[in-house]
Amino acid sequence: MNTLNPARRTLALGFALTALVAASGNAAAQQAKEVKMGYALAVNSHYGAAAQAWADSVEKATNNAFKFKQFPSSALGGERELIEGLQLGTVEAVLVSTGALSNFVPEVGVVDIPFLFRDTQHARNVLDGQFGQDLLTKFKTRGLIALAWGEQGFRHLSNNKRAVSKPEDLKGLKIRVTENPVHITAFRTLGASPTPMAWPEVIGALQQGTIDGQENPVSVFVSAKLWQVQKHLSLTSHVYAPIALIVSPAFFGSLNDAQKAAFIQGAKTGALASRKFVDDVEKKGVDEIKSHGVQVTTTVDKAAFQAAIVPAYKQYASKFGQKTLDQITQAK
Ligand code: PAF
Repeated sequence: MNTLNPARRTLALGFALTALVAASGNAAAQQAKEVKMGYALAVNSHYGAAAQAWADSVEKATNNAFKFKQFPSSALGGERELIEGLQLGTVEAVLVSTGALSNFVPEVGVVDIPFLFRDTQHARNVLDGQFGQDLLTKFKTRGLIALAWGEQGFRHLSNNKRAVSKPEDLKGLKIRVTENPVHITAFRTLGASPTPMAWPEVIGALQQGTIDGQENPVSVFVSAKLWQVQKHLSLTSHVYAPIALIVSPAFFGSLNDAQKAAFIQGAKTGALASRKFVDDVEKKGVDEIKSHGVQVTTTVDKAAFQAAIVPAYKQYASKFGQKTLDQITQAK
């Protein structure tokens, strides 16, 4: 027989319910699957913005069934190691540039061709359109699941020797490029001395003078405080730089359909966050760079650079097909 009076019974029931909710909350927290996520730059960069938006979106959509653990600033190694980590299943999610990617998914190299995209909107349209979405599906056969295209911005050239405004100024400059055959060909064609190198080694190599310069968008220049190691920046806008948001097939395969959908939607949200960050940093980044004493060349002879790169286009056409190049250049 129940000896509690009605008021006490209600109170007791309230305690029991609270305990039950707390217990199930703890269980959910305990069961949350950890998602290791790696990227090259700091948390307060376009990469960090994308990573956080991706994580928040998935955690919210799945009622915290996942807990993201971020490894920014190349903490898990260079981008090559991150991609290999996905294939091996030692990392679940990464955000990487296309620098090392075409060594894994050769078809991606087409977006690394200099002066292929007219402007940011053209690049976004192509990557969000049929072409870019088809390109994402190519990752599957290489042991990777790519979910969305984020953004770094257009790459520009910096160095410690001289102001560069035309291709002849590049002669003899040792420029670090990503480990990317398309970029290596481009800088060789332009008359520079391209030195492929993983990002974690770049700042040290610039400090030691084993390379004269590098090329990266304003977003990277600001995030990595490259003014500490570079004297000149030329706004060459020579190539658009996307970010690929990728997950490990072993991890993705372990998800149910609703969870898969949450990761896809989260990656799209992350991609948009990187673009928004880039839009902002492009507005004020150059002034910030100047304020640190870097000489910024804004009067770059783009037509001369485009003309100088033409011989490389023959190689690009034979590698990727003229039809593919036309498909991109003719896109609105
Ligand atoms: O130059 C690179 O390797 C990339 O742009 C970087 C800085 C690692 C960002 O992905």
